[in-house]
Amino acid sequence: MSNLSGKHIILGISGGIAAYKSVTLLRLLVKAGAEVQVVITPNGKEFITPVTLSSLSGKPVVSEFFTANTGEWHSHVDLGLWADAMIIAPATASTLAKMANGVADNMLITTYLSAKAPVFVAPAMDLDMMAHPSTTRNLRTLQADGVTVIEPEVGELASHLVGRGRMEEPEKIAAVLDTFFASGQQLKGKKMLVTAGPTYERIDPVRFIGNFSTGKMGYAIAAEAARRGADVTLVSGPTALADPAGVTTVRVESARSMMQECESRFGDTDIAIMSAAVADYAPKIFIDHKIKREHDNVESIELVKNPDIAATLGSKKRPGQILAGFALETDNARANALEKLRRKNLDMIVLNSLADVGAGFGTDTNKVTLISATDEVEFPLKSKAAVAADIIDYISSKL
Ligand code: CTP
Repeated sequence: MSNLSGKHIILGISGGIAAYKSVTLLRLLVKAGAEVQVVITPNGKEFITPVTLSSLSGKPVVSEFFTANTGEWHSHVDLGLWADAMIIAPATASTLAKMANGVADNMLITTYLSAKAPVFVAPAMDLDMMAHPSTTRNLRTLQADGVTVIEPEVGELASHLVGRGRMEEPEKIAAVLDTFFASGQQLKGKKMLVTAGPTYERIDPVRFIGNFSTGKMGYAIAAEAARRGADVTLVSGPTALADPAGVTTVRVESARSMMQECESRFGDTDIAIMSAAVADYAPKIFIDHKIKREHDNVESIELVKNPDIAATLGSKKRPGQILAGFALETDNARANALEKLRRKNLDMIVLNSLADVGAGFGTDTNKVTLISATDEVEFPLKSKAAVAADIIDYISSKL
């Protein structure tokens, strides 16, 4: 457990029967040398006393926004900055819902919203609550926000029913955190460039040529790389996503502007991952007024080819730099991916096929094959966050 030694961990406890297991988790973390600050919800205190927790952690337990008799304010912002990781165990359905929606009505949630460090949740609830669409939706939202979900087990629940919803055992939760810190800083000192999202090519002031990319995959890659210590710049086309924590995000619109931002940074980059769905063509001329159906009579738009950003960077690549691309294919997937790997001088390519259910644009999951000149690894359908971790692991193994 030495990877936890000296680490600052916030242990968030919400109100469920599994809160008794948090005592074991706290003991394991402290024994491994971590400094642990417990933050408990008002309901959590119905299940476990702050005295037990403060004795074991050696720190006063935080629960209220301020101490009633002295008026001393407890700063969730300071706590958020202090932490190297935050684990919420147990995470009840209500706490997950509040986290997913930013309902900041207790100290645990305000601390979560202020946390700069990676956050883990270990859900615990009755099987029907666990299987409810709202819980599923909230967990999906949290995963998209970069939270790692430590999946509950199937077992006997507080209701004596048997099903999925039992909080993962404290030993396993501690092991997840230990593994996280073991791999935590493997990209420290590396400069990384990631492209994401679609590009928009303006036709007139209100219309554009674009595509269905949402940027989720590239944002997940940028977030994962930042978590592992890389200095990440994300050059993003128009998306509805928030800037990932700890990442320098540069917003662009067109392929040409994306190209400029990438070219000016590439010389200084160790690893570049091109996940943007760049529009291949742009209108030859931009019409500076809204095209009118009656007057303008525009029936065709002349297009010109956009620059190929990946291929341009590939032609400038120096030894030691790693360049990765994506291939989203509908047919002849593998052959097309290999051809792109070669033509764009990439070191690896992430192949996803639209033929696979749950893969491609807009979904929260993806199914990929990672291909380099020397090997090929096929992965099952996973969350985009887990796919991002696989991609970074693969690249790290090539460093
Ligand atoms: N790419 C890029 N610039 C472009 C087009 C693509 O950087 N103008 C990158 C993508 O980010 C991706 C890879 O190249 O990493 C492959 O993208 P894809 O659209 O599949 O390749 P194309 O070369 O456009 O091939 P086609 O559309 O003919 O399949």
